[in-house]
Amino acid sequence: MSIRILGIESSCDETAAAVVADGREVLSSVVASQIDLHRKYGGVEIVPVVREAMEQAKSRLEDLHAIAVTQGPGLVGSLLVGITYGKTLAESLRKPLVPVNHLEGHIHAVFLEAHKSGTLPALPAVCLIVSGGHTVLYEVQPQDASRTDAGALWSYRKIGQTRDDAAGEAYDKVSKLLGLGYPGGPILDRLAAAAGNAAAPVKFGPTKMRGNTFDFSFSGLKTAVLYHVRENPSYLPEIRERENAMARGERKFEQLLPLCGPRTLALVGEFQNAVVRDLVERTMRAAEELNVPTVLVSGGVAANRQLRATFEERARNAGLNVFFPSHALSTDNAAMIAAAAYPRFCNHILADLSLNASASLPIA
Ligand code: KG4
Ligand code: ZN
Repeated sequence: MSIRILGIESSCDETAAAVVADGREVLSSVVASQIDLHRKYGGVEIVPVVREAMEQAKSRLEDLHAIAVTQGPGLVGSLLVGITYGKTLAESLRKPLVPVNHLEGHIHAVFLEAHKSGTLPALPAVCLIVSGGHTVLYEVQPQDASRTDAGALWSYRKIGQTRDDAAGEAYDKVSKLLGLGYPGGPILDRLAAAAGNAAAPVKFGPTKMRGNTFDFSFSGLKTAVLYHVRENPSYLPEIRERENAMARGERKFEQLLPLCGPRTLALVGEFQNAVVRDLVERTMRAAEELNVPTVLVSGGVAANRQLRATFEERARNAGLNVFFPSHALSTDNAAMIAAAAYPRFCNHILADLSLNASASLPIA
């Protein structure tokens, strides 16, 4: 019989539930975004999300082996929705409650994907977690080098992080200032691809970091885009048109693309070049200096096509292997929480009813 864990994730905008068997097989994964839904009661209700996850997994609550919840990092108010529900469920079903770090979840998302293809990433690895809330580099290795099974615990060492904005936050802010709405990543990803090789109206050089050179910084880039647009008021009519289109509900790529002139597309392309270059350069340099065979990339921005292609090319040239989750497992989801819970469950790392949300929970 497989070990079935229900994962619950509510650290940010999403409310998600999923059932994962043996830490590797996704039986269901439901993500409800409060961006899409009416926020009548200030958030998505968690009960129907869990019910849907159980139905899709064709499982009964009684058959679960454990309930896993995201403890942090994240917004305390959002985290508490999942934690409170998870505690209630675990208590009423008399099942163990497993606390999970959201970032550890993102790392496990890569392994969930790899289990599907049958080729697991070799550890130690350098892992870049890049999302709307985080841009951080870890070295990941097994706590016990002789264990490589899905139930083995890993240890993490932080080797770099953003000193200001997360990369996803830069996407979101640049998107907003260009009248392209939230979230910015998916639309800018596609607009940058539409830019082709058009000459950029401005060039953004690599960010130089003092001290730890595995750190990142994206607020300067965002500000450079802002200044460039301010200094060139001819961008403004287009921005207004897009804002008006968005206000009418015309938010799709196909609707917004005709409202973007070649100069805007080239600007977006250059912004993305700069983000991708910095993410890939620092991560690959860390992998080479630490002499690890594997690079893992996860988090919402890992869905970016140019980022993936650039990592793949650089890794091939360096003789390293790079792994990503599928698009659905890159952004916030609960399957990664249930997967990260599996080794903790196997090693009896459990929580009791005193479990509390932690806004800045460090990864253990
Ligand atoms: O992991 P995630 O769902 O939530 C956080 O933990 O933040 O990541 C969301 C972030 C947003 O900033 C969004 O703009 C960005 O990921 N994102 C992308 C893409 N898809 C989502 N950024 C660049 N390219 C994409 N295709
Ligand atoms: Zn996340």
